[in-house]
Amino acid sequence: MELKIYKDKAEVAKYFAIYLKELIRTNDKLTIALSGGSTPKVIFDYIAENFNDLDWSKVFLYWGDERCVPPTHEQSNYLMTVEHLISKIDMPKENIFRVLGEECPNEEAKRYAMVLNETLEIEHDIPQFDLVILGMGDDGHTASIFPHEINLWDAAESCVVATHPESAQKRVSITGKIINNAKQVAFLVTGASKAEKVDEIINTAEVSKNYPAALVKPTSGNLYWFLDEDAAKKIK
Ligand code: 6PG
Repeated sequence: MELKIYKDKAEVAKYFAIYLKELIRTNDKLTIALSGGSTPKVIFDYIAENFNDLDWSKVFLYWGDERCVPPTHEQSNYLMTVEHLISKIDMPKENIFRVLGEECPNEEAKRYAMVLNETLEIEHDIPQFDLVILGMGDDGHTASIFPHEINLWDAAESCVVATHPESAQKRVSITGKIINNAKQVAFLVTGASKAEKVDEIINTAEVSKNYPAALVKPTSGNLYWFLDEDAAKKIK
């Protein structure tokens, strides 16, 4: 595990964008599971504004989780990515594999698992992303695996239907076996509201066993935490 701590969200965005640029430059093909949340937004804006020489035809976009809403809905992670990145870059449509949030959640979780199976490399009998980008919620959730449904992490399926604890909104989420099989996993965590959980997870405090984010342990060993100083301030 590697901790990368930067001054603020803008710096996290800048240095994550540079890390991503290098991955794109050094790979013939790069499959990425994106996350929702506020930090990726800033990163996408930074990339779209500052890097105009990236070969996007080598990059294949997927989503680690999606809200079960149509792609035009303000809560759609896909729509957020279109607005902040896809609409501003030259990426072939065939490289974009979105979760169909408008479909029946159970059917879509099954379909998306098949998409992963058919389009990703298979390693250890499991579809393998080159990079999984994750956020962490204030409650310790990651992707859309929430503490009250932490058992979904260990599901046999690659994708499951999760339920947001407050809004009861359905989400389609990839599971632990996919996340921990990725070649690289990058957590993007910013803000003081995350500081306590960041410390508990990094120092494997007993209580962290209740947080899905603490279960992120890619077998590749390539786990990076991109943090701002606010999120890192309680690390002992
Ligand atoms: C989602 C997410 C979710 C998110 C975290 C962190 O779609 O809601 O993918 O897991 O990444 O809640 O969000 P922030 O970047 O806003 O802290």
